[in-house]
Amino acid sequence: MAMTQDELKQEVARAALAYVVEGEIVGVGTGSTANFFIDALATMKDRIRGTVASSEATAARLRAHGIAVFDLNDIESMPVYVDGADEITAQGAMIKGGGAALTREKIVASVAKKFVCIADGSKLVGQLGRFPLPIEVIPMGHAVVARKLAALGGTPRLRMKDGAPLLTDNGCMIIDLLDLQIEDPAMLEQQINDIVGVVTNGLFARKGADVCLLGTAEGVRTLRFG
Ligand code: 5RP
Repeated sequence: MAMTQDELKQEVARAALAYVVEGEIVGVGTGSTANFFIDALATMKDRIRGTVASSEATAARLRAHGIAVFDLNDIESMPVYVDGADEITAQGAMIKGGGAALTREKIVASVAKKFVCIADGSKLVGQLGRFPLPIEVIPMGHAVVARKLAALGGTPRLRMKDGAPLLTDNGCMIIDLLDLQIEDPAMLEQQINDIVGVVTNGLFARKGADVCLLGTAEGVRTLRFG
């Protein structure tokens, strides 16, 4: 019987344990695949120093397992950051932020030596952009940022929750940019970051994944980049 998407996520989450360095800090991402990784990490929690979390939700799940969560400001480096993706290319460029945690994800990833992406096979794409690109913005500037994003060719949509704009862990808003066909992810990442009022965007291309563990019907495929 074919494996479900959740089973594929669980399989890559378990496979990512091979990249955890014993006695060290592990950077932990956000989302359903990252949640499976947290559950797997709990099986070896006594063999790591602790973790840094990319969201409040991830920190809560780690703590519920009795796994230590450190403040990133107290950590200078970590060997590995493990996280999911909404889309990933064969070159390791990603769209992230479906769970609105993109800024903290990018900050924690920037401290890690290696980004291990864990994803079910449906996330591998030829070109990024079918998944709406999340962009975190300062609330007082969301309308002007949306106009500038529209000028880049996409359709901006303010992300809502319970009838009000969704607020991130940083107290900011998310604009999802639809209808993009992203030819040059690294250039677009920079162009969007240059708009005043943008905190960060969900393109992880200038610094993408180093490894991707992809869940497929034939088992876990390992893609290496760089
Ligand atoms: C959260 C993210 C997630 O990694 C991304 O949305 C993938 O989520 P999932 O593992 O649930 O498919 O970037 O901000």
